[in-house]
Amino acid sequence: MFDYSITPEILANKTILITGAGAGIGRQAALTYAELGATVILLGKTVAKLESVYDEILASGYPEPAIVPLDMKGASKQNYIDLTSTIVGQFGKLDGVLLNASMLGELTPFTQVNEQIWHDVMKVNVSAQFLLAQALIPGLLKADSASLVFTSSGVGSKGKAYWGAYSVSKFATEGMMQVIADEYENSSLRTNAVNPGATNTNMRSSAYPAENKSSIASPEDIMPLYVYLMSDDSRAINGQCLNAQ
Ligand SMILES: NC(=O)c1ccc[n+]([C@@H]2O[C@H](COP(=O)([O-])OP(=O)(O)OC[C@H]3O[C@@H](n4cnc5c(N)ncnc54)[C@H](OP(=O)(O)O)[C@@H]3O)[C@@H](O)[C@H]2O)c1
Repeated sequence: MFDYSITPEILANKTILITGAGAGIGRQAALTYAELGATVILLGKTVAKLESVYDEILASGYPEPAIVPLDMKGASKQNYIDLTSTIVGQFGKLDGVLLNASMLGELTPFTQVNEQIWHDVMKVNVSAQFLLAQALIPGLLKADSASLVFTSSGVGSKGKAYWGAYSVSKFATEGMMQVIADEYENSSLRTNAVNPGATNTNMRSSAYPAENKSSIASPEDIMPLYVYLMSDDSRAINGQCLNAQ
């Protein structure tokens, strides 16, 4: 695992938005950030899942979170602008954004990639990330030190047979991260990406249904990198894609 020892309260007084916060890695990141003192904004598609994370955070006595139900497949530019206005109005600034939500689409030979699924994957994994980042950067620039974190994959830097739209979308994600990181170099905003590596979630099960789940990392195992990138300890890191494992 990424070598970083987590200090209690390291994220105190930070406000962090997490997309895809209702399940998998995003859910764990939300719980971990809240445990470390952050006020988390939980964005996701399924309200019941977000409410369950909200309840767990409150029951644990962590700072009260906020919920933003949003389907990134259908959301418009205005939705993201309104989201930023609400966050800045309520919290004054945004210290961190974890762009974690994405969809796998289908694993299939390239000549059989379904056009609609291709467009859906590009919408959720690329265009929605672009609109979110564009809308949220002004809120991030209001913080003394802010962190924008994209989520890539092993197939985001090396193409792999049958990973079609998903692989291409993750290459685009890394490209977007690098463009933003370069534009905001020497500012209070740092922009990086994580490659979680094989992690036991619904998405991983869809890609590898027959895999022995106990042989791969849990979302909790990979949190050191996720915490490092949101903490001030990573202030000097910009434009990198780091491996959680
Ligand atoms: N798990 C791995 O082994 C692995 C490896 C490499 C990279 N990754 C990346 O890590 C990130 C998290 O993956 P995961 O494994 O935790 O996946 P997951 O368990 O499938 O969770 C994905 C999350 O994204 C949300 N989401 C999906 N489509 C959405 C939409 N249209 N609008 C809003 N939210 C949406 C889901 O919400 P609902 O539950 O409400 O649908 C869910 O909370 C992804 O970017 C993935 O590509 C994962």
